[in-house]
Amino acid sequence: MVKVLFVCLGNICRSPMAEAMFTKMVADAGLSSQITVASAATSTEEQGNPAHPGAQAEMRKHGLDPSQLISTPITRADFDNADLIITMDAQNVRNLKRMAPADDTAKIKLAYDILPGHQGEEIPDPWYDHRFDRTYRQLSETLPAWLDAIKAQYQL
Ligand code: 4NP
Repeated sequence: MVKVLFVCLGNICRSPMAEAMFTKMVADAGLSSQITVASAATSTEEQGNPAHPGAQAEMRKHGLDPSQLISTPITRADFDNADLIITMDAQNVRNLKRMAPADDTAKIKLAYDILPGHQGEEIPDPWYDHRFDRTYRQLSETLPAWLDAIKAQYQL
């Protein structure tokens, strides 16, 4: 089983969208029994809260169900369990590298780093400008490449 964990600051905007989108991509590829998908926050700010209404609306617009997504801070066990920790911006990477057990820092990736020519690009927080459509577009650009990479690496 390959375990993918998406992480952002609050786990109410970007990473829950990524979780819902990637879960559907994995299901559509017939790989639900081989790849698990989850998401978490680097902060406790939104712990227990559902996805942001704007994120929920964007997910529903694309046929995704946001109703089960609840903000959860990342734990030590999450670092150990995950095979791949995919984050949205440089601040997420810095926070996670500070929090991670030393053995797990190599699992931490920036979403855009999988796309040649886009290394270091960020998926900015839509919290301030409510551009959830931009978040969806950026995740649509990056997530298929992650699924391809996982399929190649694990021969799925
Ligand atoms: P997210 O957006 O990291 O994409 O979930 C945020 C939501 C809430 C906060 C920060 C970012 N906050 O500080 O409460």
